Amino acid sequence: MNLQDSQRLDAQDPLAALRAHFILPPGVIYLDGNSLGVLPAAAPARMAEAVRQEWGDGLIRSWNTASWFDLPQRLGDKVARLIGAAPGEVVCTDSTSINLYKVLFAAIAQAKADPRRHLVVSERSNFPTDLYIAESLCEMHGLELRLIDEGELPRVLDDTVAVLMLTHVNYRTGAMHDMAAVTAAAHAAGALTVWDLAHSAGAVPVALNDSRADFAIGCGYKYLNGGPGAPAFVWVNTRHADRFRQPLSGWWGHAAPFEFTPHYRPAPGIGRYLCGTQPILSLSALECGLDSMLAAEPMGGMAALRSKSLALTDAFIALVEARCPGRFTLVTPREHARRGSQVCLSLTAAQSPTQAYAIVQALIARGVIGDYRAGDAHTPDILRFGFTPLYLGFEDVWRAVDHLVQVLEHDEWRRDEFNQVNAVT
Ligand SMILES: Cc1ncc(COP(=O)(O)O)c(C=O)c1O
Repeated sequence: MNLQDSQRLDAQDPLAALRAHFILPPGVIYLDGNSLGVLPAAAPARMAEAVRQEWGDGLIRSWNTASWFDLPQRLGDKVARLIGAAPGEVVCTDSTSINLYKVLFAAIAQAKADPRRHLVVSERSNFPTDLYIAESLCEMHGLELRLIDEGELPRVLDDTVAVLMLTHVNYRTGAMHDMAAVTAAAHAAGALTVWDLAHSAGAVPVALNDSRADFAIGCGYKYLNGGPGAPAFVWVNTRHADRFRQPLSGWWGHAAPFEFTPHYRPAPGIGRYLCGTQPILSLSALECGLDSMLAAEPMGGMAALRSKSLALTDAFIALVEARCPGRFTLVTPREHARRGSQVCLSLTAAQSPTQAYAIVQALIARGVIGDYRAGDAHTPDILRFGFTPLYLGFEDVWRAVDHLVQVLEHDEWRRDEFNQVNAVT
């Protein structure tokens, strides 16, 4: 693909019009929507309305008059359309970490009824917060957290496993699990599944009900463009929703919060996964992100976004390999069925300990925003590029790789300012 080809592809792309739903700074090619999504065009006015009218004028009345009270459920129904869930099965609330605590606790409480089941299984490469939450819950419940590497799952799934907790699309590599197949294997061994959809919701088609998954949580500020620290979401399969208790039994999860009774009675269904008073301004911003994404529904929705995402990542991979031969190793799976909506590269032969970081910084200085994730003894440092088909086009891909070529050809990354490692990478 050359520049003209990329422009032709953009001109033919029916999803290109969706870019108008977002505000992107001029000159920026944003390849980090997997970390923090961009500003929905509707958000500034909606936030002003929520602050000025709903809070300023409506005051306490807005809980009823501006429908603040049911925002977690109303937004949950919108998220449900993106993750293969039904209305009434999802709430938007709290953070991903906190929601994970709730669902993992609920799953453990159920699975522990069988004393043989003493393991919670996850992957060593899972996102740290997932592992930290699981570690602490296992300690509290007298269970063992067993961390596995790629390919080990079939060997460990047996009647000692209480819960299998996985992130659907790996945050570092972009590798994606086959949710239906893995869930079926876990169920065959009698284990429950907890899925983290942080890098899936809004990025790849997800079919929670069709996969018969048990619990899922996910993030509002990445591909859902809900704003920094946006509320996350939680889904529980209806076959479990009324059976399990979640541990954070706050008054918002009570069956009748405004009866102010001294004893907890969980709300029916997913409502019990709420805890305390909800962040209305943040939920209002998240709704703008969700609406911008749902604007793709008339154009084929997640299926159409997925086709474009794969075309964008294919084009990026092909261009990097053609124009930077031998410089990078592709960390993300090449097979479509195993690839999320990001591409991660490692350096084939790093010329300095901070080179991967410095290349990302040099790209950012040129307006191409991706990010860097440090490696360890087992994994290399990676350059991570997220592709969001809602607002990215093929010309963006071509130009991003062209900037990468310039950064390498002119040794720009060697500049001192690009080698000072910041607190947030
Ligand atoms: C897989 C995964 N889970 C959870 C989180 C973050 O959770 P929280 O929003 O609670 O910080 C991230 C953040 O990048 C993530 O990649």
